[in-house]
Amino acid sequence: MKRILTIVGARPQFIKAAAISHMIRDTYHTELHEDILHTGQHYDDAMSGQFFTELDIPLPKYNLGVGSGSHGRQTGMMMSGIEEVLQNNQYDGVLVYGDTNSTMAGALAAAKLHIPVYHVEAGLRSFNRNMPEEINRVVADHVSSLLFAPTQTAIRNLQKEGFTEKEIIFSGDVMYDNVLHYSSIALQKIKPILDTYVLATLHRDFNTDNKERLQHILSALNAIANQLKTNIVFPMHPRTRKCIDSMNLAPFSNFIHIIEPLSYLETLAALQRCSLVLTDSGGLQKEANFCQKYCVVLRPETEWVELVESGAAVLADADEEKIVDAASRLWGQSPNVNTHFGKGTAAKIIVESILAT
Ligand code: UD1
Repeated sequence: MKRILTIVGARPQFIKAAAISHMIRDTYHTELHEDILHTGQHYDDAMSGQFFTELDIPLPKYNLGVGSGSHGRQTGMMMSGIEEVLQNNQYDGVLVYGDTNSTMAGALAAAKLHIPVYHVEAGLRSFNRNMPEEINRVVADHVSSLLFAPTQTAIRNLQKEGFTEKEIIFSGDVMYDNVLHYSSIALQKIKPILDTYVLATLHRDFNTDNKERLQHILSALNAIANQLKTNIVFPMHPRTRKCIDSMNLAPFSNFIHIIEPLSYLETLAALQRCSLVLTDSGGLQKEANFCQKYCVVLRPETEWVELVESGAAVLADADEEKIVDAASRLWGQSPNVNTHFGKGTAAKIIVESILAT
């Protein structure tokens, strides 16, 4: 029996881990044993606990309770805690997801103990080293033994950096597995928030911690709400709420409904019922497309270039005019599901590849 340690810490990782944990539990439990380690990077119930309950993910065997902090401090505390767990137990591999500080800490701690690292969502690049996520994903990729690429672009990025065919596996996107599995469940279980609305989210540090950018984005939201006479539902990340409060940036149009962060099923239901998505999240860009909604990306660039190339996502940065213009053009319309993210079988491919090593 092979034993792996899955490391999670931030909201999107709980969602990605659900697909693979279920695959192991339902189909491969006689061959593969998984324990989960939660770094504690996200700790509010709305950002962490509710995902484990709703998605029926096994409770973490270890919780480091690291919490928020500067990048160095947070990552260092994670590495030290993960190293201790790895030294005191026998694991054949460590599974990490995406590009957060938890990803990089897990990958580095394991690689230094010569434990194979499996990286899900490998090969993505924004080519913007000002993003902490870009540094995290480059480092994680370069210490990994198996790189699970969600798209062909990710494969090309890895090949350019010298990785070989043996190390790279095209898995498709594990978030697509989840959307296929949970979409109808979400619509059945979750009541509509409002009749029609645009769904907006914002949490990237370069948007929330920069007053000028934050102001431009919020004015764009106000303009969209007023000009299109549409409601905007804005589930707010705790970091964004803190920044808006400390910068005194309210008031909002009455059409803008600020609510607590949504659960996964609430997000999926909201995506299916909304008329447009505005976001700086990576995951939501894809999920919007999987739910056939256009997405206005509140960033200058994206790792998900396939969405921009097909017209399903538009890069509008923090430029008020571009945001309002894209929103007015795309509002209420429906793009095709992009075919570059695999067939919704990523979890199976990933588990089988881990077992084959
Ligand atoms: C992190 C990831 C980002 C990912 C996001 C998903 C890094 C560098 N960034 O960003 O890639 O898209 O998670 O949500 O790893 N906070 C709370 N409660 C919580 C968690 C955070 O109040 O449960 C607040 C704290 O003020 C904290 C701030 O949010 O300082 C930022 O949290 P942090 O985990 O450092 O980064 P995220 O912005 O969530």
